[in-house]
Amino acid sequence: MYQKPKNINYKSNDKKFSKLNELREKSQEGGGQKRVKNQHQKGKLTARERIELLVDEGSFVEIDSFVTHQNTKFEMSKTKPLGDGVVSGFATVHGRPIYLYSQDFTVFGGSLGKAQANKICKIMDLAIKTGNPIIGLLDSGGARIQEGVDSLAGYGDIFYRNTQASGVIPQISVILGPCAGGAVYSPALTDFIIMNKTNSFMFVTGPEVVKEVTGEEVSFYDLGGSEIHGRKTGVSHLAGDNEEATLELTKKLLSYLPANNLDDPPSINVDLKELEEVNLSSYIPGEENEPYNMKSIIDKVVDPNSFFELSPEWSKNIIIGFARFNGSTTGIIANQPLFLGGAIDFNAADKASRFIRFCDSFNIPIITFVDVPGFLPGIKQEHEGIIRHGAKLLYAYSEATVPKISIIVRKAYGGAYIVMGSKHLGTDINLAWPTAEIAVMGAEAACRIIYRSKLKTVENPAETLKKFTKDFKEEFANPYQAAELGYIDRVILPEETRKEIVNALSLLHNKREQTPKRKHGIPPV
Ligand code: HXC
Repeated sequence: MYQKPKNINYKSNDKKFSKLNELREKSQEGGGQKRVKNQHQKGKLTARERIELLVDEGSFVEIDSFVTHQNTKFEMSKTKPLGDGVVSGFATVHGRPIYLYSQDFTVFGGSLGKAQANKICKIMDLAIKTGNPIIGLLDSGGARIQEGVDSLAGYGDIFYRNTQASGVIPQISVILGPCAGGAVYSPALTDFIIMNKTNSFMFVTGPEVVKEVTGEEVSFYDLGGSEIHGRKTGVSHLAGDNEEATLELTKKLLSYLPANNLDDPPSINVDLKELEEVNLSSYIPGEENEPYNMKSIIDKVVDPNSFFELSPEWSKNIIIGFARFNGSTTGIIANQPLFLGGAIDFNAADKASRFIRFCDSFNIPIITFVDVPGFLPGIKQEHEGIIRHGAKLLYAYSEATVPKISIIVRKAYGGAYIVMGSKHLGTDINLAWPTAEIAVMGAEAACRIIYRSKLKTVENPAETLKKFTKDFKEEFANPYQAAELGYIDRVILPEETRKEIVNALSLLHNKREQTPKRKHGIPPV
């Protein structure tokens, strides 16, 4: 942040120096004190205060602080604040470079005209060329109405760059105020969206238009607040209680990410003394349908306190997030038996497949914990397109060339066995606990089908079914048929899991995989 030097009297120096100093000071004013006060009264920070919270102290270097809009219509030439509604530049976070822009709501409501768009595009171009993450802090009334199509053009320029940057540098959007209309599509094109639980919302058409068109009445927050996007739509990945917490989450997320697609994921020093000896098998209930919390297992296997869950409130039947092994970032995907028995529904498939593609683009090894009874049955699932969404997950696992390690903890039934990082989709190391049950379907359902005729003829069908089910379980509800066929590389004791994953990660460190030459595949998006 710019600080006026204390011991220099510019007035006694060259006029040119004073002019620069004046301009620098003016560029800090944004939309003026009154609007800054309004911003604070709404419980919001200014664009510059947010940057200060996000970056390492004294590291921010601003560019384009003298840029002004060139619009002459609607008496706009009377008001030309320096910087024009966005503060942009580069800085470090935890000592690592980032590029960022922070929309200034005190200047025309942070609305985006051509000058603001040009500034954002310039900073994105620099981020792409230098291979560093780009962070957008958004707080804007959308397209600057007075600039007409020029502001729409500006959005188009940004969307284009979001797409060019995709899979090259990490892109994070932090929503700290309004984000409405087509403006939502820049965040939607980025890798992660983090919302402030108060004072932020995202929607394509606002409450007024909704009321006009459909007659429905809804508040800003019920239409597009963080609860809606964190639980229902899956648009946002994380949410903070306030601006400080939201920016802390952004820093934490950055700590797991490489700078670009050619970099290795970051590795930090960790104190492994905290690693407890735990009897992991005690976390798995014996009964086939008894729920348990898969996160307890993940937490005990990864580096202490390193599991950082994403989209924790959306599609809870699948878990995604980053975690570290011996300090290095990995991506975790896991079924969650606590919700829908861990079955895969259309949202779960969406959630996991996008995350897998992110990890694959950024050289982050993928570790999958499996306990899945199958795809979720039902009319809603079929009609919402479980076929198309489920295929995304198959595609993402098959396409990924980063090290892939899977551990079957309990159930791995049917198509869901294949999809959850099976050997058949190119997974490198497939592990299973002795509690693993790898089968076409659950034992009882299988026996009902294969013994249907027989069960009609016996005196006590319920008892007979029980016996058949018991025999079937002994034959199939284990990992050994898969191990015999080489679909499971090693059957391991639960307490050996961390060691086995660490070994596998080290074995796979230099993995290189060639894929067929093509422009790009066509995932079933
Ligand atoms: C120009 C804008 C503006 C805009 C707000 N302002 N939005 N100026 N273009 N889009 C200005 C206001 O005139 C006001 O100026 C200042 O910003 C603060 O606005 P307020 O309304 O006083 O603030 P608040 O009450 O907090 O309400 C914020 C708001 C509201 C909810 C964002 O301003 C609003 O509804 N704005 C319009 C949103 C919108 O419809 N945008 C277009 C979306 S369509 P003064 O001088 O009084 O401080 C779109 C298409 C993009 O973006 C397509 C891309 C493909």
